[in-house]
Amino acid sequence: MHKKLIAILVIFLAIPIILVNCSLRPIKIMQNYEKDNTKAIDSDSIVVGFSQLGWESDWRTANTKSIQNALTEENGFSLIFSNGRQKQENQIKDVRSFIFQEVDYIVIAPTIETGWDTVLEEAKEAGIPVIIVDRMIDTKDTSLYISSVGTDKYAEGRKAGQWLEHFLENKRGANSPLLNTDTINIVELDGTMNSTAQIGRSSGFNDIVKNHKNWKILTQESGEFTKAKGKEVMARLLNRFNDIDVLISQNDDMTFGAIEAIQEAGLTCGEYGDIAIISFDAVSEAFDKMEKGLINVDIECNPLQGPLIAEIIERLEKGEMVNKEYYVDEKIFEAKNAKKDRVGRSY
Ligand code: AHR
Repeated sequence: MHKKLIAILVIFLAIPIILVNCSLRPIKIMQNYEKDNTKAIDSDSIVVGFSQLGWESDWRTANTKSIQNALTEENGFSLIFSNGRQKQENQIKDVRSFIFQEVDYIVIAPTIETGWDTVLEEAKEAGIPVIIVDRMIDTKDTSLYISSVGTDKYAEGRKAGQWLEHFLENKRGANSPLLNTDTINIVELDGTMNSTAQIGRSSGFNDIVKNHKNWKILTQESGEFTKAKGKEVMARLLNRFNDIDVLISQNDDMTFGAIEAIQEAGLTCGEYGDIAIISFDAVSEAFDKMEKGLINVDIECNPLQGPLIAEIIERLEKGEMVNKEYYVDEKIFEAKNAKKDRVGRSY
C-alpha cells in the first residue's frame, strides 16, 4: 500500500517535468504547424531552413543580412532562420527541426568542421538538399551536401603571409620599427578552434612562415572571433612578451579588441607603430581604423553570399546542375588606400 502510494506520487511529479522538457525545443515548430495545418510555412514558396552559427562579429551580421535579403518572400522564398549561438549541438538540433518541418532546403553555416555526418544523413534520408555556407564541413561522404558557398580561407592565410613578405622586402613604411629587427616576432590571434576560418587561415599563413627562418611565431591563441576575447587574450600576450613585432588576428572584431589592449598597454600599432597588424574580414570599422593607420592590412573575407545561395536553389528548382563548391571574390586592402577602397562598400 505504501509502495503504491509512492509510485503514484512519482508518476504525478514526473508528468510536468516530461511536459516541460518536451516543450523546450519544438515550440517554434508547433506554432508554425498551428498556423498552417499542412507545412511549416506557405507551401507556394521555397521553404529554406538556415542555421547560422552565431552572432559573434560584424562580418557575421553582414553575412546574415546578405542571406536574409536574398531569400525573401518577394524572391519566392520562406526563410526559417535559427541562431546556433556558437554551439554545434544547437545547430544539429536546428537541422533536425528543419527536417521535422519538411523544409525544401537546408542551409548551414557550420561552427566547426567535424561531427556533421549523422544529422546530414538524416537530412539526406528525408530527401532535403543541404547547402553549406561560409565555413566547410569535414566529411568523407560528399553526397551529404549538394553544394557549398564560401571563401577560400587557406588562400586568405597565404595572402596574409605574402603581404608580410612583400612589406618587408619592399621596405614600405620605411619608418616602421619592423624593418630594423632581424627576427620578426609574430603572435597569432586565432578564431574559433577547429572552424574552417581558423584552420585555413592558420595553415595558409604558417605555410608562408616556414619559408622564413627569421619569422618566429611566439604563440598562437584563440580569441574566439570576438572583440572581448581578442582584447583579453592580447592583454595577456602583451604581459607575456615584450617584443611583439606583428599581430596576425584572424578577424576584425578580435583586432578591435587587440588594438584597445595595445593602446592600454601604452604601445602603438599600425604601419608606423610598435606592432604591425594584419587582420581579416575588412568590415567598415576596420576601414576606419586603417584610415587612422592602426591596421596595416586587411585580408577580405567576403560575407555577401546570399545571392549565390538563392541562385543555387533556383537552379536546383529548375533541375539544373550546380557546382559542388562556389567561392566569392575577395581582395586585399592596405591602410594607404583605405579611403579610396572603401567607397561603395555596404558593410
Ligand atoms: O567564417 C568567417 C569568419 O567568421 C569571419 O572571418 C569572422 O569574422 C567570423 O566570425
